[in-house]
Amino acid sequence: ARYSRITGTGSLLPARRVTNDELAAELGARGIETSDEWIVARTGIRARHFAASDVAASDLAVQAARHALEAAGRRASDIDLIIVATSTPDMVFPSTACIVQQKLGVHGCPAFDVQAVCSGFVYALTVADSMIKSGAASKALVIGAEVFSRILDFNDRGTCVLFGDGAGAVVLEASDRPGILASDLHADGRHVGILCVPGHVSGGQVLGDPLLKMDGQAVFKLAVGVLESAARAVLEKAGRSESDIDWLIPHQANIRIMQGTAKKLKLPLDKLVVTVDEHGNTSAASIPLALDVAVRAGRVKPGDTLMLEGVGGGFTWGAVLLDF
Ligand code: ACO
Repeated sequence: ARYSRITGTGSLLPARRVTNDELAAELGARGIETSDEWIVARTGIRARHFAASDVAASDLAVQAARHALEAAGRRASDIDLIIVATSTPDMVFPSTACIVQQKLGVHGCPAFDVQAVCSGFVYALTVADSMIKSGAASKALVIGAEVFSRILDFNDRGTCVLFGDGAGAVVLEASDRPGILASDLHADGRHVGILCVPGHVSGGQVLGDPLLKMDGQAVFKLAVGVLESAARAVLEKAGRSESDIDWLIPHQANIRIMQGTAKKLKLPLDKLVVTVDEHGNTSAASIPLALDVAVRAGRVKPGDTLMLEGVGGGFTWGAVLLDF
């Protein structure tokens, strides 16, 4: 049988790190009150990184991809599929994946973006796995890259303190042993309005609001339930149980959602990979960023069983179970 395996991981955070105190001071100067205490208690976030204004999602993606290629012992010219998960693309079109391909100096292989907001990486990984299993590709770059700072409303303290910029990438290769064991993806468009950037480009103008809007409590209520059901679905598909999970690597939005998910799966909190404290919510980039941090710290090791889980705007959610 033909499977897909992750053979290398990489990530990139923009250099500028902004602590809660620094952000609170910037907001306070404009009459918007927040504090390190409030942000830490509600979200677990202590700092986030913001890209410089001339840095695009593709710039972060390319550097994360280069690190993943190096870890996999591959060159960009070995890659025959590029998928970028992003909700903050460089342009309306062409896709950020095409721009990444060009910046990597390779040409010809299929390249496209996947848009599933914070579930983007599990969606992209599932698409790449399917294409590898079908024989359509054999060495894929799967990247999550975001510059959410561009779409934040810095007059809305309920959202602007939550997000950050960054990118993570994996090289996914065909293999005769798994690899990716099972995936489970979902969407429910009834909830479009609880987390969205409702603006669009028309007639040479941006119509509607181009900044992020979120009903935080509605998102919170949906998130824990759907993450539990997606996790149970992939375990069942793979014929595994909760006790087989070495590491839970969920989308890094909020420590309370992540701990709630671990609890529902009866996983001890030391099996939960947490980077939200240092990264904030980097949307589609958060899972591959957390994975790469855990790999480079020597925590996630070859052979470990990983549960990756995403949830976000759409409403979208999903899980991927894999042997690393
Ligand atoms: N600093 C200080 N006070 C604040 C801030 C802030 N940054 N933001 C909001 N408040 C105030 C509110 O104004 C409100 O004040 P009031 O009671 O006087 O009206 C009070 O704090 C409580 O606000 P709530 O919104 O009820 O706070 P809650 O406990 O729900 O926490 C939060 C808000 C952190 C957003 C929470 O709902 C949450 O984490 N939700 C999930 C969000 C999430 O994970 N989103 C990402 C999904 S992934 C994706 O696709 C992008």
